[in-house]
Amino acid sequence: MGKIRFIKTESLKAKPDQKKLGFGRYFTDYMFVMNYDEGQGWHDPRIVPYGPFQLEPSAMVLHYAQEVFEGLKAYRTANGGIQLFRPTENIKRMNISNERLGMPAIDEELFMEALLELVRVEQDWVPSEPDTSLYIRPFMFATEPHVGVHASSSYIFAIILSPVGAYYPEGLNPVKIYVESRDVRAVKGGTGFAKTGGNYAATLRAGLEAEKAGFSQVLWLDGIHRKYIEEVGSMNVLFKIGGEVVTPPLGGSILAGITRDSCLRILRHWGVPVSERLITIDELFEAAENGSLEEAFGSGTAAVISPIGKIVYGEKSAIISGGEIGPLAKKLYDYLTGIQWGRVEDPFGWTVKVV
Ligand code: COI
Repeated sequence: MGKIRFIKTESLKAKPDQKKLGFGRYFTDYMFVMNYDEGQGWHDPRIVPYGPFQLEPSAMVLHYAQEVFEGLKAYRTANGGIQLFRPTENIKRMNISNERLGMPAIDEELFMEALLELVRVEQDWVPSEPDTSLYIRPFMFATEPHVGVHASSSYIFAIILSPVGAYYPEGLNPVKIYVESRDVRAVKGGTGFAKTGGNYAATLRAGLEAEKAGFSQVLWLDGIHRKYIEEVGSMNVLFKIGGEVVTPPLGGSILAGITRDSCLRILRHWGVPVSERLITIDELFEAAENGSLEEAFGSGTAAVISPIGKIVYGEKSAIISGGEIGPLAKKLYDYLTGIQWGRVEDPFGWTVKVV
């Protein structure tokens, strides 16, 4: 196992029913852990039984949220193999997030080795029911016991695994969303492009209000002009307007989604016109009113594609694609998940074999 130490568990857990996994509720028998200490760097990479961390109440992550995470999946292919989807992109993005949060970089090769080795150890946990996968959650947090505000001198990096089904109970059924007018998720110069817990914490109140009002999520507008569309819920957002796919550009406040990038590359590969440009909420509602708004959907690792069937903005409301999943969103979903589960050929070289 190279430099990664292995500590065996005394007892293995019973595996959950693959038809009732939901998202992120079950965790496997093992996790990867590694420590960082100033002067020593990263040390003691190990695969150990999944279990609680010991943290001082003064551990800095609990006070100042110095934390980053990633999300990717391992897929069971028809021939019983297991593959990852673009893991190098998650590794690179985690180091981009680390840099923004003043945290130390992780060696990319060791990160990849840890991913592959942990999934190999836990291969029996990769489910095989349709639309299920093993969600991989790498994360890192500040552990120094100190309530002064500065970058921590010690960190834990860990990877946990969770067998998952659909992220939204709706699955591929379109969600109802409204345009959030009070809260914003991120601003340029802030941490919007980093995958850090604080960005998600900032969305929770709006998410709660949306649920109370019978919506699945909210559409986020930019924090300065309050008119440019940024993201939907915890996903990137794409629209098909007058035959062209339009998505907000990566300007610092938006997460550089790997599913977003994959969608754009597939669309370009198909010859569908794609534009990464600013789009205002007024333009979107005009397009809805004049009939040129054909489709709308979110993109993310967890849900892959999440069609939007209805958008409400104050007094206005728009039904999109007749409240059904649009044909392009469906085609993208089928093709992307086809590559991920190894059902269709991968012309982009995106999949990485684990076993
Ligand atoms: C994703 O779409 O993969 C996300 O970012 C959601 C995740 C935070 C559970």
